[in-house]
Amino acid sequence: MSEEIKTFKVTIDNITIDVAPGTTILNAARQIGGDVTPPAMCYYSKLEGSGGKCRTCLVEVAAGSTADPRPMPKLVASCRTTVMDGMVVKNITSDKVLDARNGVVEFLLINHPLDCPICDQAGECHLQDLSYEHGTEGTRYEFKRRTFEKEDIGPLIQLHMTRCILCYRCTYVADQITDKRVHGILDRGDHAEISTYISKAIDNDFSGNMIDVCPVGALTDKTFRFKNRVWFTKPVDAHRDCENPKCCGKATLWLRGDEVYRVTTRTDPWGEVQSFDGKPGWICNTCRFEKKKTSDWVVEGLTTISRHSVIGANKYAKLEMPKDTIKEVLDGRDPKLLMDIHSVSGVNNPEIYLSELDRPAHIEDFAKPTEHKLDKPGQPSLLNEEKK
Ligand code: SF4
Ligand code: FES
Repeated sequence: MSEEIKTFKVTIDNITIDVAPGTTILNAARQIGGDVTPPAMCYYSKLEGSGGKCRTCLVEVAAGSTADPRPMPKLVASCRTTVMDGMVVKNITSDKVLDARNGVVEFLLINHPLDCPICDQAGECHLQDLSYEHGTEGTRYEFKRRTFEKEDIGPLIQLHMTRCILCYRCTYVADQITDKRVHGILDRGDHAEISTYISKAIDNDFSGNMIDVCPVGALTDKTFRFKNRVWFTKPVDAHRDCENPKCCGKATLWLRGDEVYRVTTRTDPWGEVQSFDGKPGWICNTCRFEKKKTSDWVVEGLTTISRHSVIGANKYAKLEMPKDTIKEVLDGRDPKLLMDIHSVSGVNNPEIYLSELDRPAHIEDFAKPTEHKLDKPGQPSLLNEEKK
């Protein structure tokens, strides 16, 4: 006779589900999905020991269990609290939780430089999303912000400590995925910072995964810095036969035209690395930093991006062109002049492959509007048209 598997009933924001004993409130909420799931800036299910640092996942436990239905006196970190049978949890239905989360976001931003317009993480930054959802428009902080110099930690990664929220994820990656950890959090309290011991460079086969787990723009890919905004690129899923046995060889390529601007791990709806065959799909530095040609990869198709993400804007799995209505609008007449916006756009200099630059891109690498030739053989000239 098969043994009955015992499960716990837990109710989160009035939705009841059965979960295995030992499941945390956060993971139970993830099983329900949607807005019921608390945000998590430091917890990362594939990294042992993560969680319990940032307090963004706080929830209210309105009833501890069926056996002891008393509420818990304080808000608890849902990533570190396991469910009990009959537990009742409030997340977005609790004003206390929303108020506390607003406070946590305000604290996380106290020393943050608020430099989203020039940050490479913009568009895929969990702190940016969190502050839009829970932040206030202004700051109440009147003191000098804590600042740090930018630091190159190894040839491929740059650290902007001013943006770091001390979530510890990158240290867990170094501990658990790479051969040796040479960086960590030094000092305490307001002085705490991520640094390499005696400025040792991070240089091992899997160090690039630290960039992917960083929820903010503190660790950025030096081969991608300032090359493009992430929402202008097109993410596609691709794989290759990687010789490194620890590398899963499955990645997301971020393309612009046929150019591969960067390579990252594939992420799940919670922003964590996807698992393949029950194992987290980390990728090695060779796949990430050296395989920057589409011919290095077998492209599988468009990456699924949440429709709420700015990255999903203008990416269509199936493109249906609307019918051409210009003639109708012009009462049956043909237009006098039609310009192809792509041939005159001032975004990229077609002679320069930004992804191949061994440094950040700057203004000279982009085409200046005056350099564009508006006249093409066989096409009417805009300037001439205007003179007529
Ligand atoms: S650098 Fe990024 S991943 Fe590392 S502790 Fe800071 S915020 Fe977390
Ligand atoms: S995600 Fe729970 S404390 Fe950070």
